[in-house]
Amino acid sequence: MHLIETFTTSRLFAERLRFQHLNELYRMHQNTQVMATLGGVRSDEATRLFILNNLNHWQQYGFGLWVFRDKVNHQFVGRAGLRNTDVEGMSEIELAYALMTKFWGKGLATEMGEKILKVSFEVLNLHEIVCFTLTTNKASQRVMEKLGFQYERDIIHANLPYLLYRLKV
Ligand SMILES: CC(C)(COP(=O)(O)OP(=O)(O)OC[C@H]1O[C@@H](n2cnc3c(N)ncnc32)[C@H](O)[C@@H]1OP(=O)(O)O)[C@@H](O)C(=O)NCCC(=O)NCCS
Repeated sequence: MHLIETFTTSRLFAERLRFQHLNELYRMHQNTQVMATLGGVRSDEATRLFILNNLNHWQQYGFGLWVFRDKVNHQFVGRAGLRNTDVEGMSEIELAYALMTKFWGKGLATEMGEKILKVSFEVLNLHEIVCFTLTTNKASQRVMEKLGFQYERDIIHANLPYLLYRLKV
């Protein structure tokens, strides 16, 4: 387990989500631009619940979300990771990612995703991962394609239209 609690990519340092990351998540979850494609801004209470759920997820499954910082000045870049989730009644493992806006457009979501997929397949021995995004979220669709995900079908998630992609080893 300790193997995956922290890791690096070429530009980033990742550490598993901890309660101490609460202030950074408050900041992210209050940002209207970041949260526009993630169900809207969240209250601090909702963010506390989010972090508790995601800490429980780590305990239950041995993997979950990581917090990423840039290696140069240790700024909070975003969060990304793996989550067990329900997709139209089927249990799936999802790749999720969200970055602070100043880090968009530099290939960083793709860099995070590449390393998380490597951990998924080579350390956790998972065989397939899904990723889904709103039909309007073109940047996220492009990230999925760059990571090698294949479009599978249109789905409804949280009452909204999403595209479901899948990657198998
Ligand atoms: C989606 C998100 C993670 C992308 O992060 P990022 O670090 O900018 O992604 P990358 O730089 O690795 O790749 C983005 C790609 O999308 C492309 N792109 C960006 N906006 C686009 C648009 N409106 N239409 C088409 N392509 C677009 C970029 O050109 C790039 O592709 P390229 O490398 O071929 O040029 C980031 O915008 C984000 O955190 N958004 C808010 C949260 C979110 O939506 N998370 C995903 C939920 S499923």
